[in-house]
Amino acid sequence: MGGNAYDILVTDMMMPGMDGGALLKQAKQVSPGTVRLVLSGHAGRDLIHSSEVDFHQFLGKPVDPDRFIAMLDSFDLDHARPETVRARALVSGIARVPSLPRIHQELASYLEIGAPLGEIEILIRQDLGLASKVLKLVNSSYLTVNERVTDLSLAVQLLSHDLIRRAVLVNGATETAHSLQPSGLDLEDLWRESLAIANATRFLAEAMGQTRSVVESCYTVGLLHDVGMAVLAEDPAFGYQDLLNRHHALGAPLVEIEREAFGTDHAEIGAELLHLWGLDTALCEVIRNHHRNMADSKAFSMQMALGLAHNSNFESRSPSAFGDGASLKFKSSPPGVTVAGECASELNDPPTGLPPLQP
Ligand SMILES: [Fe+2]
Ligand SMILES: [Fe+2]
Repeated sequence: MGGNAYDILVTDMMMPGMDGGALLKQAKQVSPGTVRLVLSGHAGRDLIHSSEVDFHQFLGKPVDPDRFIAMLDSFDLDHARPETVRARALVSGIARVPSLPRIHQELASYLEIGAPLGEIEILIRQDLGLASKVLKLVNSSYLTVNERVTDLSLAVQLLSHDLIRRAVLVNGATETAHSLQPSGLDLEDLWRESLAIANATRFLAEAMGQTRSVVESCYTVGLLHDVGMAVLAEDPAFGYQDLLNRHHALGAPLVEIEREAFGTDHAEIGAELLHLWGLDTALCEVIRNHHRNMADSKAFSMQMALGLAHNSNFESRSPSAFGDGASLKFKSSPPGVTVAGECASELNDPPTGLPPLQP
């Protein structure tokens, strides 16, 4: 299957001769652009965890045929969106999103002493790498979850100490956190802004009377909307430092510079990585579109909440304030007022056309 001739590989884990884990490893090497899915009913957790960095999604048998076909269709097999195909090719070999070393180390020590899940959740909710990893794992069907999970609180409860410990300490995350040297981007800044936007998006959903599920999904899209920037910054091969320098020197929108360099942008790249990892497609679309003009609608949508939070001239709060949406303070008035301003790490990006919000 060399030469990326196949869009998708679907494999079992327990097979005669070469098992699924070995096949996934080999497929990742010879055809890194292929989507790697596991469809299995007999694999133990140890085998699954040893292969987690090599598969994109694990689906437990039996799987609903309609759901399976819809999932395959979501990968745009007729290549109608070239920017999405390019983004997928860039991220299909990526096994993790960087974590902030200080958060990662704190989580490792919390897990070592068996800290309550609530305290572990607080840390995971502050880190793009840990949050995306937890969502990837919890959306693997071997946990017998029938629907996509987008609520990080629920994800932590479902995974429990044991699986989070394995995810954080076994799959190489400890080593990579220590050796992390992303190029050209201050991860602390990106994390701080992502948290502020997560809380602002969540705050808007709460203020507009949305259900807990929607409110928590809004937090997740806010936290992860720029995960593509973290991915691009981590690997020096992307040359992101040069792009950021040009962005600051020329004042050109970062997404335009990214599209010139990669034929796609960080919004597509982040959305496609999370799509590969099984995050709900509706949330992936919100992330994919966060630099595009919004639909002219006054009804609530996650896209609108993220767009408003992203473009609001909000004040970032200290980490201790996070988790309490009501403590967020907007310099501009929230719902009912069109606001302007930008995510500090993406200065000069074009503002989206935000209509006034109505509950
Ligand atoms: Fe962005
Ligand atoms: Fe942003």
